[in-house]
Formats: sequence, structure tokens, C-alpha cells
Amino acid sequence: MRVLGLESSCDETAAAVVDGAGCILSNVVLSQIEEHKPYGGVVPEIAARAHIDHMDRLIEQAMTEAGCELGDLSAVAATSGPGLIGGVMIGMMTGKAIAAAKQIPFLGVNHLEGHALTVRMTDQVPFPYMLLLVSGGHCQILVVRGVGNYQRLGTTIDDAAGEAFDKTAKILGLGYPGGPAVEAAAQQGDESRFKLPRPLKGKPGCDFSFSGLKTAVRREVEKLGDTITQQDMYDLAASFQRALCDSILDRMRHAVEIYQKQEGLAQADGGPHVLVVAGGVAANSYLKSNLQQLCLDSHFMLVAPPPALCTDNGAMIAWVGVERFKLGQRDGLDLAARARWPLDPNAPP
Ligand code: KG4
Ligand code: ZN
Repeated sequence: MRVLGLESSCDETAAAVVDGAGCILSNVVLSQIEEHKPYGGVVPEIAARAHIDHMDRLIEQAMTEAGCELGDLSAVAATSGPGLIGGVMIGMMTGKAIAAAKQIPFLGVNHLEGHALTVRMTDQVPFPYMLLLVSGGHCQILVVRGVGNYQRLGTTIDDAAGEAFDKTAKILGLGYPGGPAVEAAAQQGDESRFKLPRPLKGKPGCDFSFSGLKTAVRREVEKLGDTITQQDMYDLAASFQRALCDSILDRMRHAVEIYQKQEGLAQADGGPHVLVVAGGVAANSYLKSNLQQLCLDSHFMLVAPPPALCTDNGAMIAWVGVERFKLGQRDGLDLAARARWPLDPNAPP
């Protein structure tokens, strides 16, 4: 089995071929970072135009690297939401066109499910598991029970974790995308220097809030004024990253308790419960080492995809296609793109 996966929901144009065993035969990602850099964030119109310009060439490259032809494919999977709707439509229409021309099934994939199931491709993680999904647009804690079967325990009430990194980087003049820049700056900083808030810490539940944290960073920058130094920037980056991770850990402790109560103390096979961290921010080593400690304390095992599969890519979309194809699922060519598409339809908006 070979499935082509297309991703175009944000600022990466990506195409990949994955086989039925989760072997990545090709995975081509074109980042549009340079095109959006002057604006300090993703401009939807520029993103959509870039997807149109590059998608067909990337598909060609992915097919060549995988050593197969479109006619060899078992199915085509394309991100159908959530995301920037112009971009989503481009990947989807391309996928549908290939499916129609080659008479193969089409699968419209939820981008978040791509992040959620990647560890089943890389580490064969069995269901159920707990998932911290931290990306540029989302910050959620979910119980993953099966393909298409999610229970949301918490979500952000304002900014997503990656958004907080990106906005803080902008305030500190560290450029775009902010996550890797803040992480690198933080390595040279003193995380205890600035007393920044830990929004919602100590409050019940598993929801997140990061917008106050970003505002607090802005206030510190304003207080320092023109005398701000490079070291001040590093210390602010480190203090921000510490505060954000503290907030996440506090929320995760509640989630671990809820999950353990729901699922019993150990997995049915006697092994530890699994916590998966996925999405672009899961590439952050500092966050991962904090989560590792939480896992040790709570008898969980932490699993994270390799950094290149944490940020947006086509392989994760192809893999959801593989999982759904094996279950006999198919989507019609009339499937609509969705700007919003929660994984847990029962969770409040
Ligand atoms: O999953 P992703 O590639 O796209 C979305 O679906 O949003 O995530 C992108 C986000 C950006 O906000 C980026 O700044 C953040 O992930 N990110 C990181 C790191 N690498 C990427 N945040 C913190 N530390 C990193 N090393
Ligand atoms: Zn993503």
C-alpha cells in the first residue's frame, strides 16, 4: 500500500508517500518562512499563492523520491482543515484531481489528527494514549482512543503555545518563526531573572491561557526601554520559556490525574501509560525535558516524534490516510474544506 499525503493548511507546502507499514518513502517540505518573514507572521493570501506555485512540483519530487508513479498509489490524502482556508482548498483540490484522474480513493484528513497519530507511524504507539498537542494554532490535551476518536480534556482560552512563542519572539525582535529563535536565545539566558505570570496555575481543570504571559514580556521590554541589552533579551526569553512550561506542566498534572482515574492505574498490558507530545512546539527540547520529569513522577512514558515530524509535513497526513484506508474509510470528492474542525466534536467551542 502506498498513500500520497498533501499538506497546505498553513505556511508549509508538503507532499509525502508513506506505505502501509508506516515507512516514509519520501517527505518533501517547502517552508514559506522567507516569504512571510517581512510581515512577522503568516499572510494567508501569500501562503495560498505559494501553495499554488509549488504544490505540483513538490508532488513530482515526492513521487520521484519514493520511486513510484501516481498510478501505483492506493489512495491520496490531503489536509481538509482546520487551517487557512485558501491553502487548505489548494491541497484538497489537487488531491481530489489526482484521485479522480487515477480512479483511486480520496481521504480528507484533519490536520490535527495528523499531529495526533504521527507517533503510531514512528513508534507504533497503541491506543489509548494521552496527547499534548502544541502547535502554532492549537494547545490542547486530548485522550486519543482510536482513529477519529478523541476526548478533549483542555484547550487554550486565548493564544496557542506556538503563537505565544511567535508573539514573544516578535516583541523581543528575535524574528519569525519564533519558537526555535526563543529556544536558542533562552539557552543563553537566566530563567529566574524576570518574575512572569503563570496564567491559570493552581486553578482546576486543564485549560491554558498564554496571552497574559506575552503581555507581561512586553511590559518588561517597555520598562527596560532604550537601555535593553542582548543579555536582557536572553534572560527574558528564558524566563518566558520557563513560565510557559510551568503553566503547561501545571495543566498536565491535572490531566494525568483525570486520565489515570478514567483509564485505571496501568495499561491493560501492564505497561505504563503513554503521554505523547506533538505539534510544532513539541520540537522544543526544554519543554520535552520538563514533560519527561512529569512522566517519571507519574509513571508515564513520554513519546515525541522526531523534530522534523513535529512541525507540519506531508508524511503525517499520508499516515492518517493509511490508518483510515485500512479501516475502509473513504471520502467523497464533494468533501468541503473546513477552516475549523475540532478533533472532539463534543467539546465546547
Ligand atoms: O505544527 P506547526 O508546524 O504548525 C501548526 O500547525 O501550527 O507548528 C508551528 C509552531 C510555530 O508557532 C513555531 O514557532 C513553533 O511551532 N515551534 C516551536 C519550536 N519549533 C517550532 N516552538 C518552540 N520551540 C521550538 N523549537
Ligand atoms: Zn500543524
